[in-house]
Amino acid sequence: MADEAAPHKRRARYSGKHPRRFEDKYKELDPSHHEAELRKVIERGQTPAGMHRPICVREILGVLQPGPGEVGLDATLGFGGHAQELLPHLAPGGRLFGIDVDPVELPRTQARLRALGFDESVLVLRHLNFAALATLLPEAGGGFDFVLADLGVSSMQIDNPARGFTFKADGPLDLRLDPGSGQPASSLLQSVTRQRLREILADNADEPHAAALAAALQGQYIETTTELAARVRLALRAALKPGMPPAEREAETKKALQRTFQALRIEVNDEFAALGRFLSQLPACLKPGGRVAILSFHSGEDRRVKKAFQAGERAGVYARVAPDPIRPSAEERRANPRSSAAKLRWAVRAPRS
Ligand SMILES: C[S@@+](CC[C@H](N)C(=O)[O-])C[C@H]1O[C@@H](n2cnc3c(N)ncnc32)[C@H](O)[C@@H]1O
Repeated sequence: MADEAAPHKRRARYSGKHPRRFEDKYKELDPSHHEAELRKVIERGQTPAGMHRPICVREILGVLQPGPGEVGLDATLGFGGHAQELLPHLAPGGRLFGIDVDPVELPRTQARLRALGFDESVLVLRHLNFAALATLLPEAGGGFDFVLADLGVSSMQIDNPARGFTFKADGPLDLRLDPGSGQPASSLLQSVTRQRLREILADNADEPHAAALAAALQGQYIETTTELAARVRLALRAALKPGMPPAEREAETKKALQRTFQALRIEVNDEFAALGRFLSQLPACLKPGGRVAILSFHSGEDRRVKKAFQAGERAGVYARVAPDPIRPSAEERRANPRSSAAKLRWAVRAPRS
């Protein structure tokens, strides 16, 4: 029998009660055989390795109101958490398009969603940047009833050290959502000018120590995430006031690390340009009365979404837009701390005159 022939795999060795390294979390990475373990991780307020927990699901369903026979787009498919919640509302006769720029996770999500019974007649998946949203229109029959975008990175991408998104684990300093396109962050640091790096840090992450960090990082050959983290720590040691209490110093250093990684990620993936192109194509891609919901995770994203929606409302292409962003409930923020920064904005396409 197949099970008897399978080679015995030794349990990963790790110290402490729970495995810390991504690659040691063998139970979380094999969820179909370890459901109870997954539940325990989620109850601890953590996200299991290789998974992503969808944010503001109830609020998004309330805003998008997906209905039978409708054609929708999930422009940031990720783990497919939101897609999985949207799809049952479209039956009978509806279809969801799901796109993602990440060619590594997309096939895994595709396999997972197909295994749940969502075949090609109801779920159309494409490896596509949402900046090219309008190219889907002929296939989608000319327009979408609703569009969802959940910006940024998924937990699978952040937690996998091989993708180079986190300073918490050692990995190549890459930060590309699509490793087949653009340059990794390590090359960017070598080729960028000091002035441009300062702008990247300030504009993409409001980094208050942008000048000191640009001086320390520009032109350097930094191959790994931990090397970059060590250099940021060193630069901050010199940049922070000498009398600062150690706990404050550590908290400020951690924030600078998060902001540096965020700023570089936005740059290597050209995220603001992609978001701008997506926002400008949206009205033409929504049917009259079509709904759009966008979840953003930092001020640079939220500002762009807010401005585009307000400009669309003034121009009469949107009939209504969110007066204020919707935030995850206190309960969701407690249960999933990764939701804490989320802001949800929505708009409704005006009927064509
Ligand atoms: C926060 S995750 C989405 C998680 C998803 N809503 C779920 O429930 O599993 C963001 C996803 O958007 C993708 N993404 C980011 N920028 C993109 C772009 N310009 N075009 C398409 N996908 C993009 C990322 O690769 C990532 O998979």
